[in-house]
Amino acid sequence: MIYLDNAATTFPKPDIVYDTVMNVMKDFGANPGRSGHKLALKAGRGIYDTREKLASLFNIKNPMNIIFTYNATDALNLGIKGFLKKGDHVITTAMEHNSVLRPILGLEQKGVKNTIIKCDQKGFVDLDDIENAIEANTRLIVTTHASNLTGTIYPIEKIGALAKKHNIIYMVDAAQTAGIYHIDVERMNIDLLAFPGHKSLLGPQGTGGLYIKEGLDVIQMKEGGTGSKSHELIQPDILPDKYESGTPNTPGIIGLGAGVQYILDKGIDNIMKHEKELLKLFLDGLKLIDGVKIYGPLDPEKQAPVVSINIGDEDSSEISYILDNVFDISTRSGLHCAPLAHKTLGTLERGTIRFSIGLFNTKKDILSTLDAIKKIAIEAM
Ligand SMILES: Cc1ncc(COP(=O)(O)O)c(C=O)c1O
Repeated sequence: MIYLDNAATTFPKPDIVYDTVMNVMKDFGANPGRSGHKLALKAGRGIYDTREKLASLFNIKNPMNIIFTYNATDALNLGIKGFLKKGDHVITTAMEHNSVLRPILGLEQKGVKNTIIKCDQKGFVDLDDIENAIEANTRLIVTTHASNLTGTIYPIEKIGALAKKHNIIYMVDAAQTAGIYHIDVERMNIDLLAFPGHKSLLGPQGTGGLYIKEGLDVIQMKEGGTGSKSHELIQPDILPDKYESGTPNTPGIIGLGAGVQYILDKGIDNIMKHEKELLKLFLDGLKLIDGVKIYGPLDPEKQAPVVSINIGDEDSSEISYILDNVFDISTRSGLHCAPLAHKTLGTLERGTIRFSIGLFNTKKDILSTLDAIKKIAIEAM
């Protein structure tokens, strides 16, 4: 089997992640931050270790400013809905995932205005367009770091500088880049960073997080037991407790820590190099196949390892089905939860077939996939 759906969730994970999840459950699967016995303390320490590792990966000064969530969507909702208030204006782009667009459009009913910046056909955004959209009440800019449809990489450091210049908070959706590309919240002026744990950070599903810059006023989405200040009837104001009510996903979070440690040991530069090499091999091969339409930058320096194509006039789901059932290659077809991005590319009607490369893919995987696409394209002509 060749797995090329890593943009949805990475698979497989390093063995240490499987072992860690299992060992947490078997050896000390108690409730962290509540009771004071040895097992509970060990569980709490394990969760804190994951915070520290993530802080080291993203250059976050205080690990307590990382809030654990169940996925990137959860983190995006908390950051967007928790920060924006009636009368505010928010700027975002047409290449965003529905997990950014839907919370922002949902806030229209609550009196939050938005501007969605159009992108070019390769998915790039023009910084001047962002700057020109700024209004007196613009409080937030939200952009992806890389499109989940075309892989198009956004210049987040430049957007961060622009936001800082205008005293606007900048939120980055790092769903497609965390664990592959360097992210430095200090250098890049990122105030809110949403990331999934289950994609390139190599953790289990049910994990993700939001970094909230020190002092930023973000309202919590839920209230409840935190194990701290239990005598008070109002939600504690300390981080991360303010946002982390209820029993957490302890095995998942500590498993995510094992994934992040694997990345720190391997080095982001080595991971990026491997994935870029495979991406180049794939793009170079695709360009030679007649009948294949490739979307996006077609340049490994400007695109994350995510490639969308169509073949002839064939339906994208049909091709994805053939890849799975005839060639044993896992891909995703359809609209990829990014309707405005498809509108930008002109693929809103038929969708695309998306191939997303991960750390454990090999050159052989890519060559076999190119071979399969060639055979399908010949049949389709
Ligand atoms: C760019 C982008 N943002 C947000 C999300 C949502 O991530 P999650 O599934 O972890 O909620 C995804 C998922 O694919 C994504 O690609």
